[in-house]
Amino acid sequence: MSNTNLITHLRHVGFAMPQLEEQRAFYSKEWGLTEVAEKDGVHYFAAEGSPEPYVIRLRKDDKKRADVISFGTATRENVDALAKQLKQDGVQLIHEPRELSAPGGGYGVRLFDLDGRVVEVSADVAPREYRDLEPGESIPARLSHCVINSPNPQATVDWYEKCLGFQVVETLHIHGNTLMWFMRCSHPQHHVLAVGNGPHVAMHHVSFDMRGIDEFLRGVGRLQRDGKELIWGPGRHQTGDNAYGYFQDAAGNTVEYTAGMSQLGDSWTATEGDLSDPAVLDVWGTSNAWGENVMRSHFNTPDEGLFVAPPL
Ligand SMILES: [Fe+2]
Repeated sequence: MSNTNLITHLRHVGFAMPQLEEQRAFYSKEWGLTEVAEKDGVHYFAAEGSPEPYVIRLRKDDKKRADVISFGTATRENVDALAKQLKQDGVQLIHEPRELSAPGGGYGVRLFDLDGRVVEVSADVAPREYRDLEPGESIPARLSHCVINSPNPQATVDWYEKCLGFQVVETLHIHGNTLMWFMRCSHPQHHVLAVGNGPHVAMHHVSFDMRGIDEFLRGVGRLQRDGKELIWGPGRHQTGDNAYGYFQDAAGNTVEYTAGMSQLGDSWTATEGDLSDPAVLDVWGTSNAWGENVMRSHFNTPDEGLFVAPPL
């Protein structure tokens, strides 16, 4: 079967870390999410403008790791067909398709990707009641995309194409080296996943969509006034045409406020960007330089939970 268009969107990302209380305070009081539930030690955070029951989940653990990257698919039948196909292809499932017990429930399968990240694909998740954000409201409207680091980036990209049906829409190069692969799912949004060429397996960043450019800038400014270090930004990438401002959460994972990402039409073709042109990374020319500090933040520390299923 072809898995193209199997995945509809990014649902949520889970993190585990020793400093749970600092992390809860960061995502609710500073980043602007709403803590909506706690169950068996896992804390769930929703974005006010999103129907997803939660977009971030946090769990205390001695190890710093990404617990799960969760994607949506349209039907339960898709989940079953995907699980069957993955097993035939030798992918290690963490659990078979089953009813999910997290807020919103649903029906999903969990598996390890090529590098050992935990990936969930689910359908039938009950939507949360959400609202349109007000003009000027500088909190995340929804989850936009996430980027993962891999020391085996091409193989990881191939895996996501083959196993989950993502399609590469753009690559970024410098001096002949490919540094980033941007991937789309069935949604016209330019990318919901990207793979970075990194020194180790880790989360590169998780990105949150703001109501618009004004609210994006207000959010970046609000965090800076609160004393948070703006790692990189504010600027606008040529790739995806989205605005960017990168910060770090309480465990040192990079998180992004974004706005204005482009939508792909039916006749899109894959493109390439050359990073020797500074306008590729920073269209407006307003951002601080892309230097070692930015790279270190994006590389993150090695994920300590590879090929280990989280307890929940
Ligand atoms: Fe991003």
